[in-house]
Amino acid sequence: MAVSTDLSHLHRFVPAAEPGQAPILLLHGTGGGENDLLPLGRTIAPGAALLSPRGKVLEGGMPRFFRRVAEGVFDEDDLRRRAHDLADFVAEAREAYRLVAPMAVGFSNGANIAAAVLQLRPEALAGAALLRAMVPLADPPSADLAGKPVLILSGASDPIVPADNAARLARALEAAGAVVDHRTLPVGHGLSQADVTITKDWLERLRGAAT
Ligand code: MLT
Repeated sequence: MAVSTDLSHLHRFVPAAEPGQAPILLLHGTGGGENDLLPLGRTIAPGAALLSPRGKVLEGGMPRFFRRVAEGVFDEDDLRRRAHDLADFVAEAREAYRLVAPMAVGFSNGANIAAAVLQLRPEALAGAALLRAMVPLADPPSADLAGKPVLILSGASDPIVPADNAARLARALEAAGAVVDHRTLPVGHGLSQADVTITKDWLERLRGAAT
């Protein structure tokens, strides 16, 4: 499977092996890339189409989805622009690959831009699993997220995301109408086996509810 450069983000696309599943939009963390989360995608959503773009910003050579001023301090103008850019990419990819709106699965920086896309361009995503997310925008517009499923998995000893920050994100998304399941795991910022199991179960439950 080659890296595709024909749409606005360099990306990998894995076609669905089984019909009827929401495609998964995989959004990597700082220093990751378009290959990083493919194994996670295959594990949590076997048979689903996977769309995995690479963030366009480089920080000391490390790909990211938007600029930051410091760890946890975001360049919000850039974040807004990049979130729209990513939502546009999703629309392009939906047309190119004939996809319904994807479910985002983002880790860290990827989770943060997924949360921003939910708040700025809610129509772009069917929902999102946000792994180690924090509040992306201090003053987001009022979005209509009515009924959109959102899973937020935080780490109790995450040195990057304070617990109250993740809780604030959960409240903001819930206030916009999303159906939020926020859990805090006994882990740090890195992904754990529990993240994989919980996200897989959550996606399976959504699929079960939809059929
Ligand atoms: C971010 O910049 O999005 C967060 O600080 C998480 C990270 O990428 O380290």
